[in-house]
Amino acid sequence: MAVSSPPQPPSRPEGGDEDDDNVRVLRPRRAAPADAIRPTRAEINLGHLRHNLRVMERAVGRTGRASSPGIPEIWGVLKADAYGHGAPAVARTLERAGIGGLCVALLEEGLELRAAGITVPILVMGGYYGPHHRGLEEALEGRLTPVLYHAEQIEALARLARDRDAGPLAFHLKFDTGMARLGASRHAADELLGLVSHTQGVAMTGLMSHLACADSSDAEPTLAQLRLFESIVRAAKARGLAPRHCHVANSAGAIAFAASRFDAVRPGIALYGVSPFEAPPTEQIEPIASDLRPVMRVRSEIVALRTVADGERVGYGHTWRAEGERRIATIPMGYADGLSRALSNRGHVVVRGRRAPIVGIVSMDLTTVDVTDIPGAALGDEVVFLGTQDGPLGSAQVTSEEIAKLLGTIPWEVVTSISRRVPRFYREP
Ligand SMILES: Cc1ncc(COP(=O)(O)O)c(C=O)c1O
Repeated sequence: MAVSSPPQPPSRPEGGDEDDDNVRVLRPRRAAPADAIRPTRAEINLGHLRHNLRVMERAVGRTGRASSPGIPEIWGVLKADAYGHGAPAVARTLERAGIGGLCVALLEEGLELRAAGITVPILVMGGYYGPHHRGLEEALEGRLTPVLYHAEQIEALARLARDRDAGPLAFHLKFDTGMARLGASRHAADELLGLVSHTQGVAMTGLMSHLACADSSDAEPTLAQLRLFESIVRAAKARGLAPRHCHVANSAGAIAFAASRFDAVRPGIALYGVSPFEAPPTEQIEPIASDLRPVMRVRSEIVALRTVADGERVGYGHTWRAEGERRIATIPMGYADGLSRALSNRGHVVVRGRRAPIVGIVSMDLTTVDVTDIPGAALGDEVVFLGTQDGPLGSAQVTSEEIAKLLGTIPWEVVTSISRRVPRFYREP
């Protein structure tokens, strides 16, 4: 397996906060592999990413790239820097693998992908376009499809079409069917669909919603959302509107609810190789969930080793005390890299193919690990914080599910927390 530098965007340097367009676009500088002096890095397995796309394609009944009636397209969710995996490289890989479209949360994220040369349709799901919706112009120039949910936004898009003498400008209309987060109220559906059907210069090419409980063992909340969404789709059709893409499903919905697939599904976490189901999935779903392969692996190396005597204490606050003589390894990864401080005295890492406990407090840049039970542990040994390691003592892993459980959160937060200080290295099997 080769380890390479990430595919670089052809233009626009990363970093800085240039204000070269109307909209100020935040471009945080990521640590680049070329700058990596520390051995701490996130390895992104692009082969696994492609594999997970195929798993999701099979799950929804797709067999090839061509669009066929009744078979949903896959629109991968790449918000938050592709869940921490590095959006440009993830987008390029998925585009080459034939994905139908991509979804981001922010306008800035969509523009970043266009600057990286991505050409597939990109949906901006956050629905926020800045003061007076001026960002809609930016979206248009970036060939991004805005998600709208308010009459004012539709009117702003129509004004833009008039001012530019442009053909109908495409957008997706979002309804809230039970998440109570973003989207027009179902009670406003008639009024809003009426406005859409009478407004010149705009084209509602998509109709969408978002599922709140698709990963739950209780199907009823999802079925209720689907019933509501179907009634909105019918109302749209009754007004002569014909959205090409109706979509509601996240990873869990796409896998578990055939009725949620409509024309497209929007998986995020499953593409990154993590099962969206916390509870053990049903017999039918289990083979899909267990076929997913984690895309991110986070590793570093032992940079210091010491023996501490019985009763000696380790780290800030002296929270850990050696029972007998112990070997303590120091690893250059801390909470500023996304290794939660809440893993202090609780988490594990893998060294030489065997798990070893984190001892003492995780500090900003460094973590201490008890390697007494890892025979042969030496300076320079690889330490895995997330993922699998095969070593002379066997094979062991730390999963994002395990870390999430310890932290009382979800794997989504674990992977998106790996900070931009950690360079991403892209692996091509
Ligand atoms: C609107 C929307 N669609 C799809 C997704 C993808 O969800 P998941 O990562 O659970 O597949 C998200 C993520 O939270 C989302 O906000």
